[in-house]
Amino acid sequence: MSGFNDQISKDDLIRLRRELHRHPELALQEFQTAEMIERELDLAGIPHSRVGATGVLGVIFGEQSGNGVIALRADIDALPIQETNAVDYRSQTDGVMHACGHDAHTASLLGAAKLLSANRAHFGGEIRLIFQPAEETGKGAADFLEAGVLDGVERIFGLHSAPDLPLGTIGVTPGLNNAAVDQFRILVHGKAAHVSTPQQGTDALYAASHIVVAIQGLVTRRTSPVEPVILGVGKLHAGTTYNAVAEDAELEGTTRTISQEMRLQVRDWIDQTAQNVAALSGAKAQVFWTDVTSALINDPQASLEVGKVAAGLGPNIHIVTDRPLSLGGDNFAEFLRKVPGCYAYLGTSNPLRPETQNSLHNGSFDLDEDALVLGARLYAAYAKWWLTGGKQQ
Ligand code: NI
Repeated sequence: MSGFNDQISKDDLIRLRRELHRHPELALQEFQTAEMIERELDLAGIPHSRVGATGVLGVIFGEQSGNGVIALRADIDALPIQETNAVDYRSQTDGVMHACGHDAHTASLLGAAKLLSANRAHFGGEIRLIFQPAEETGKGAADFLEAGVLDGVERIFGLHSAPDLPLGTIGVTPGLNNAAVDQFRILVHGKAAHVSTPQQGTDALYAASHIVVAIQGLVTRRTSPVEPVILGVGKLHAGTTYNAVAEDAELEGTTRTISQEMRLQVRDWIDQTAQNVAALSGAKAQVFWTDVTSALINDPQASLEVGKVAAGLGPNIHIVTDRPLSLGGDNFAEFLRKVPGCYAYLGTSNPLRPETQNSLHNGSFDLDEDALVLGARLYAAYAKWWLTGGKQQ
């Protein structure tokens, strides 16, 4: 629509991203981060409210007639990872780092919010800005859903940094993008005894070892070889000393599945396997589950829309629609289960800067800040498109 000013300040985006990067906060502890977001929304005259302890919802109302509602989401939490980069904006908090690019997502959405707010005379309807905490632990989406933030929303859009894609490339894959993630904890109870009298005890360590092996067998013997499934045990603690039969053992692991049926099925199998295998040596097992996130499935129509809008952002923008499935999860998935929408992957790597090619969740991860402008423009452009006639197409 004529009159819409597309100018966005790269310096402002870099300033915001670096401020967030210097002061990372873990899931559900994003208090300073939330205050900083609120300060920036205040500067732009955007009303906002808290959702849960550290989530922030901003709302922009267009001044034209029209009644569309679109939600834009950025995640805001950091990770328990020690940064090893020597940059001057490195994390000031030992052992905590924005190693997943959420600082960039937050800065980009703030940039888009300022742009959209300054242009609110040129569109109608409503834009909801979701600054979501606790993506990494899978807990942050629930508060927004329970607060009804998605009520009446017609489209939702989010993006994530992608060091596997070069700057200027945007991944928009219709359908399945990320696996469902669950976490399990298995407690094995046996009976302590001196190592010289094993017949007087029940060896929880021995039972737990068999459980680890048996769980791996589920993937090769029970699941289809053409459907990706991961059953990973990442932690096993048992015993107290070298010459005793262990009374207790504790295992922790995660499952990655792509269909809801398999997600439920593997829970059942792991429950049965743990109990039955423990019983073979006279021990008992209890399994505890935590839902982390559903599979992330992009709406095909919304993906087409985002691809088209993204391609219109400039002649050098490259759109990929076949980025490989990731078995890492993202709880943007919970929003997509309620509202048609799209999660895009924003290329952040630059071959001239090797650190930008390091993987996410790596202590030496960094991103090329040129991506911030494209991220902000994409957030803004899709909202603008939806509210200025895209909805009717
Ligand atoms: Ni992330």
